Amino acid sequence: MDLFSSIDTEPARKRIAELSELIDKYNHEYYMNDTSLISDYEFDALLRELIALEQQYPELALPTSPTRRVGGEVNKSFRQVTHRFPMLSLGNTYSIEEITEFESRTRKLLGDTPFSYTCELKYDGVAIGITYKHGNMVQAVTRGNGSVGDDITANARTIRTIPLKLQGVYPDDFEVRGEVVYPFDAFEAFNRQREADGEEPFANPRNAASGSLKLQDSSECAKRKLQFCMYFMMLPDAEHDTSDTYTRDLLYGELQTHSGRIAAARQMGFKVQPYFKECRDIDEIKQFIDYWDHERWNLPYAIDGIVIKVNQVELWDRLGTTAKSPRWAIAYKFKAERVSTPLQEITFQVGRTGIVTPVANMEPVWLAGTTVRRATLVNEDFIRNLDIRTGDHLLVEKGGEIIPKIVGVDMEQRKPGAEPVPFATHCPVCGSRLVRADGEASHYCPNQDGCRPQQLGRLELFVSRKAMNIESLGPERLEMLFDHGLVSNVADLYDLTAQQLIGLGAEQSATIQAKSADNIIKAIEQSREVPFERVLYALGIRYVGEVGAKKLARHFRNIDALAQASVEELAAVEDIGDTTAKSIYDYMHRNEHLAIIARLKAAGLHMEAVIQQSGSQLEGLTFVVSGVFSQFSREEIKAHIEQHGGKVSGSISGKTSYVLAGEKMGPEKLKKAESLGIPVISETDYLAMLS
Ligand code: IVH
Repeated sequence: MDLFSSIDTEPARKRIAELSELIDKYNHEYYMNDTSLISDYEFDALLRELIALEQQYPELALPTSPTRRVGGEVNKSFRQVTHRFPMLSLGNTYSIEEITEFESRTRKLLGDTPFSYTCELKYDGVAIGITYKHGNMVQAVTRGNGSVGDDITANARTIRTIPLKLQGVYPDDFEVRGEVVYPFDAFEAFNRQREADGEEPFANPRNAASGSLKLQDSSECAKRKLQFCMYFMMLPDAEHDTSDTYTRDLLYGELQTHSGRIAAARQMGFKVQPYFKECRDIDEIKQFIDYWDHERWNLPYAIDGIVIKVNQVELWDRLGTTAKSPRWAIAYKFKAERVSTPLQEITFQVGRTGIVTPVANMEPVWLAGTTVRRATLVNEDFIRNLDIRTGDHLLVEKGGEIIPKIVGVDMEQRKPGAEPVPFATHCPVCGSRLVRADGEASHYCPNQDGCRPQQLGRLELFVSRKAMNIESLGPERLEMLFDHGLVSNVADLYDLTAQQLIGLGAEQSATIQAKSADNIIKAIEQSREVPFERVLYALGIRYVGEVGAKKLARHFRNIDALAQASVEELAAVEDIGDTTAKSIYDYMHRNEHLAIIARLKAAGLHMEAVIQQSGSQLEGLTFVVSGVFSQFSREEIKAHIEQHGGKVSGSISGKTSYVLAGEKMGPEKLKKAESLGIPVISETDYLAMLS
C-alpha cells in the first residue's frame, strides 16, 4: 500500500521540485540581477500551480519552497536564541584622524606581513545572522544584545534577497550576517499608505525595517519589500567544518580573504555589496570615504558610514579583539550634515486628529542632497527647550535619514533683545481657541466637526482600507466632494448619486467620468457589508484604533449598548484605558455624532456584531478564558467559543464548565478553579473537544 502511494505521488514530487527550482531562478534573476525572464502573469501561474500542489500534497512541500516567501506563519512571541558566535559591533569614529591611526596601528602590528584592506558601505538597517545547513536557510536571528537575539526566521524567509536554498558550492554549516534595509522608495510608499490608513508613519527606514521584522504575521512582513544586504561570512574552524573535501578544496583558498568570501557569497545567491573596494593604503581608504560622503544620497537605501576591514582572515586572530569589537576592523561614521539658516516664520498645521504642529519655515538651504525649507518644531515644549526666538538662525541636521531635523539655535546669530516666539492661541484654519490638556504635550483644535482638515481627515479615515474600504475615493476626490459641499461628514457619502459626481473636478483637469462615478457609488454600496467592528473604527473616535474597535464591538455587540455605556463600563473592556473610555463617552454624548450614527444606521451599515454560528458542539457550556494562546488571540478564542454555541464568562464561579488556560495564566484563577473543582483545559484539549 505504502509502495503504491509513494509511486502515485512521484509525478507530484517531481513537478514540485521542478516548479520550486524554476521560481527560485526567476526570483533570483529579478531580485538580484533586475532581469525579468518571464511576464508577471506567467510567474504567478507557476506560483499558483506550486501552491495548489503543496496544498494537495503538504507532505511533499519542500522546507525551502518559494511559496514560503508569502509568509502566513504567525509569530506568537519571538524565541530568544543564543548566537553561535557573538555578534560583535565595530569600533566607530567620526574622525578621519582616528581612521589614519587605525591604519598605522594595524600596519605596525602586522610588521612585514603583506595584507590589504577592504572598504565597504555601512548599511543603516537591522543586523541579523542567518544560518545555512546543507545549503538550506534554517534560522535567522536579530543581533539583540550581541549574545542573544530574537528568532525571526519566518519573517526573514519573506525577504526575497535572502536565498532559501543556496546555489553552487557552499560550506556545510555556516552563518552569514548582514543588514536588513528598507529601500527609500518602498519605505516612502509604505509610509504614504500608512497615513492614508490613518496610521502613524515611521520616522525612518531603519525603524520601519526593525518593526517589520517583529511583525507577528509574516504575510504582513512579506508585503514590506525589505532587502537583505550580506556583509559578512562566519565559518566554523576548519577542524569543525563538515563540508566534503570537494567543497573545501574548491572554497578554501577563496575563503581566506574577506573579499573572497563576499565573492563566494555572491555565487551562492546572496545580494552583496555592490560598492566594495580592496585598498592598499590610507590614501585609497580616504578616497573611498570622501566619495561616499557625497554620493551616499544617490543610493537607494540609507548608509551611515564606511566599514574598513583587514582583508586577510588569518590575520584577524593575530590582531585580536577587544571586549566589544575586533581590532581588525573599524567603522567611519558620516557626520550628520548640518547648516544654519534664518527662521522666517512659524506656521501651525492642523492634523486630521486636530493636533496642531508648529512648523519652522526657513530661508531655503541646500542640505545633503535636497533643498530644505520647512521642518517640524514638534510642539511647544520643543520650541521652549531649544529656546527659539524671533529672528534666530536655526541649526538643521540631516543624518542617515531623509527628514531634516531642527537641532538647535545658532547662538552666534542671535540678535540682542530677541523675544521668545509665541505659540498659536487659535486654530489657524477655523479660529477656535486651542486646547492643551493636562499632561499632554500637544495643543489641539477642539472643533472636530467644523474644522476642514479634521473633517477631511475623518472622511479619509472612514474610506480607508482598514475601515470602510471605499478605495475609489482617494484624498483628492474627497477634498473635491467636500469643497463642492456634497460631503461634509461621513453620513453624507451614503446620499451621493452618480449624477452629482459626473463632471466634477474639471477645474483640476481630473474630471470624474460616468464610469468612475459608477465605480464610486458601487464601492459606497459595497461598504454597507463591512462588519460592525470596522464601522466602529471608521467613525474615527479619538484613541479608538482597529484593535480597540474590535474589542468594543465584541463586548457591547451593538452601537446602542456602546452609546449608553458609562465611562467605567467602557474602561472595563480589555485594552480600553481611561482616556479612551472618556473619549468614547464624550463622542457618544454629542448630538451631532448621534445624528450621524442614526443616518449611517438608516443607510444600512452594520451597527451590530454578527456572531456566526459554525457549530453547536459547545451548547450549554460556559468557559472562562485566561492566559496567552498560540493559535488565537484572547478575543479570537472567545469568539470561537461563541461561534460554536458556548458562552464566555469573565470570572470563575460554580456555573463555569471549563477554565480554558493558555500560557501565563494567573495563579489566582488557577487556585480558584481548583478549589471549585472546575476542570482546567489547554488550547489543545479545547480544539480536541470541538473535533
Ligand atoms: S561588519 C565583526 N560590515 O554596523 C564585524 N557591519 O557596529 C561585523 N554594519 O552591528 C560587522 N554595514 O550591523 C559590517 N558592511 C558592514 C556593515 C556593518 C552595517 C553594522 C552592523 C554592526 C554595526 C557595527
